[in-house]
Formats: sequence, structure tokens, C-alpha cells
Amino acid sequence: MQALANLNGQQMPLAEVKIPALDRGFLFGDAVYEVLRVYQGRPWLADEHFERLARSLQAIRIQGVDVVRLRRRMLETITAGRFQEATVYIQITRGAAARSHSFPAQATPLELLYVQEFDDPYRSARLTGGAVSTQPDSRWDRCDIKSTNLLANVLAMQAAKEHDCVEALFCLPDGALTEGTHTSFFGVLEGAVLTAPNSNAILPGITRGLLLKLAASAKIPVREQVLKRSDLGSVSELFLTGTTSEILPIIRVDDQTIGNGKPGPITRRLQDAYQQAVADYLRS
Ligand SMILES: Cc1ncc(COP(=O)(O)O)c(C=O)c1O
Repeated sequence: MQALANLNGQQMPLAEVKIPALDRGFLFGDAVYEVLRVYQGRPWLADEHFERLARSLQAIRIQGVDVVRLRRRMLETITAGRFQEATVYIQITRGAAARSHSFPAQATPLELLYVQEFDDPYRSARLTGGAVSTQPDSRWDRCDIKSTNLLANVLAMQAAKEHDCVEALFCLPDGALTEGTHTSFFGVLEGAVLTAPNSNAILPGITRGLLLKLAASAKIPVREQVLKRSDLGSVSELFLTGTTSEILPIIRVDDQTIGNGKPGPITRRLQDAYQQAVADYLRS
């Protein structure tokens, strides 16, 4: 099934989308984005994703985007392409204008979305667990904005891949483990789930938000507290969360094995709770 796009209200195959060379998303990374998962033809956690998109737009001061209309276009595209297991990518840029760093006086935001079939690359790592490679967190200090400025993430993920790892884990100079290049990071310490509190140092992950609710319902204690590299010898489990990765057990960090080297019982319970939440949504 070919990927189907909607560019500024016009539906077309993704392969036919053309973006002007002077678009500020292309020239400056002056853009924000979202990725949603579609299960059985239905977008998952759409309210949360569109709320975050609205917050990102506000944070970088892009005005005039009708997020409700965008959501309608997304649903139309999913239906038109008869997508079942899919992802939706949405990107809003400040639009095209003569190249100058400050905002152009006249520019219309570019609104692109596309839907494509999802061939799950995490299926086996979700069962067996994966390894991560720590990489210096050299990003800017507004990681809470879901901007398309992803060069630090790209370089860190490439380094991780070259170490046969499923993800890179960003590490600050003081040893704080913030998050992955495209995932949120969690550990289990003395039976409690720990994850960094939302701040400008991490993206407020939508799956992270769901995980915190699932843990609360399962009566698993949660502490929003940064894990440090020096904690890795004490944690019994680690896992990552993300829209496409869902809940991904981590069994090794660099050369250090975590727990007994297998996905742990709390991770498994949360994975089951995640599947149940999706099933409940699809039945609703
Ligand atoms: C840096 C970063 N952290 C965390 C996440 C996970 O967020 P979500 O659960 O909303 O996919 C992402 C998603 O792409 C990300 O890019």
C-alpha cells in the first residue's frame, strides 16, 4: 500500500509531494512535528498528540494553524488509504520566504501529513530486550519542544546502531540519563518505576504519560526522578517507551548487563497493561 499524504489540504501520494526549496523547515529546521500510531485503522492517543502539537506550535510562535482541521485531514487520509497498522507523520513549518533568520513578515505555514503502513521493527526486541549505547546529550535546552532539529539525535542514534544497539541513551556531563533519541527512559529501583520529571531536558512523551497512568492503575510505585549512570548497578530493570516502540525492555547499557540480563517482571506487567489499553480502546 502506498503512503498517502495531505499537503496544505490536498491529498496525494507521498511520492508526489513537493516542498519549495525556500521552505524554512528545509532551510532552518524551523518546524515542529508529531508521530502517531494507528492500530486497526484508529489513531491512538490522538487528543494527547494534537495537544502536544499545539504546544509545540505555540512554543516556536507559529500562528494560524487549525489543529482541528489537521486532525480531520489525518482521519480522512487514514480512511482514504484504508490503513490498518500504520503511522501518521505530521510536520508544520513556518513556510517559504526569502532566506533570513528572523520570522518573515508574510509566510503561510506549510502543513504536511502522511500515513504509511507500519512494519514493526521492534517486534523481537520487545520480547527479548535490547541494548542501548550511552551518548553525550549535546542537544539544545528546549528538548521539550518536538522540533525537527534532530541532528544530535541522528548522530547519537547512528553511533548506537554502529554498536548494534536498538537506541542511544543521552547522558549529561553529571551522569544524568535523560532519554533516548526517540524514546523516554525508565528504570526499576527497589520495586519502584523511576523516570526523569518533565522539564526542558526531555520531550514529554505521550507514551511516557500513558505509562505513568498504567503503573498507577497497577499499583506499581512511580517516582519522577532522574536516573544516573551510577544507578545502573542498582536497577533491576530498564525500559524505553515511545509511539512506535511501545514498551521496550533494555537488558544492557554499553558493557553493563542490567538485572539478570532478561526483561524483568515489572516491564512485562506494563507491556501487558499497554496491550490491554490498546485493546480496550479498539473495543470502545
Ligand atoms: C526525544 C524523544 N523522547 C521521547 C520520545 C517518545 O515520545 P512519544 O511517546 O510521544 O512517542 C520521542 C518520540 O519521538 C522523542 O523524539
